[in-house]
Amino acid sequence: MAVDVMKELMRLDKYLTEMGQGTRSQIKEMARKGRITVNSVTEKKSDRKISPSSDVVAVDGRIVAYAEYEYYMLHKPEGVVSATEDRRHRTVLDLITGRMRDDLFPVGRLDIDTEGLLLITNDGDLAHRLLSPKKHVDKVYYAKIEGMLPEDAKERMAAGLTLSDGTETLPADLEIVRRGGGCGELFEIRLTIHEGKFHQVKRMFETLGCHVVYLKRLSMGTLTLDETLKPGEYRPLTREELELLNKTDQEQE
Ligand code: URA
Repeated sequence: MAVDVMKELMRLDKYLTEMGQGTRSQIKEMARKGRITVNSVTEKKSDRKISPSSDVVAVDGRIVAYAEYEYYMLHKPEGVVSATEDRRHRTVLDLITGRMRDDLFPVGRLDIDTEGLLLITNDGDLAHRLLSPKKHVDKVYYAKIEGMLPEDAKERMAAGLTLSDGTETLPADLEIVRRGGGCGELFEIRLTIHEGKFHQVKRMFETLGCHVVYLKRLSMGTLTLDETLKPGEYRPLTREELELLNKTDQEQE
């Protein structure tokens, strides 16, 4: 059960560290130099206790507000990695420029060339419940497929597949949105899976002799990609989206 941090007292250095203002030793030094105020009074002791809900903390005169949890819906574009840091590529966190906390992470992974819905938060409990293999949270993908989709593709997906390395997948629901095939035309499909194995969608289609050339996640549990978000854009979850997400994830135990 999460503790209501807003009602608790917490150390000033912890507050400022969580809000991305520096390491504990940097905060200590900033306090020593008189750069931190609490309720407009200079505070030189970085280990003093404050109330996140009623005390006003500022660094160099700039108020640093406190958020215990943040939740963002990102329309992940291709070319960025679903990681918190990476030496070669931009990460999904680099796109969340308006965030307050420095402990955000993506809930699950999309491949570098996959687009679509990604939840970004620092709520580890929610992430754990959404990703737990026991919960079978639905994920819906839209894909463009190269090659001839077998006539019985829907039935084979529904029965569960054995991937090339012997991994068994759970039954999945395949909907053919547009039938391709002739003259290099692509199939367009929607696939609902109930798990999240490595490269799962791409590997499922490889098993059927086809190749995914475009992949986009449309939803995860009750959370659906807001189509007004362009690739690379994000917004905070609405209260309703968050409530629903918390509810379904408990019901799916
Ligand atoms: N399945 C894949 O193959 N790739 C993704 O990014 C997500 C699901």
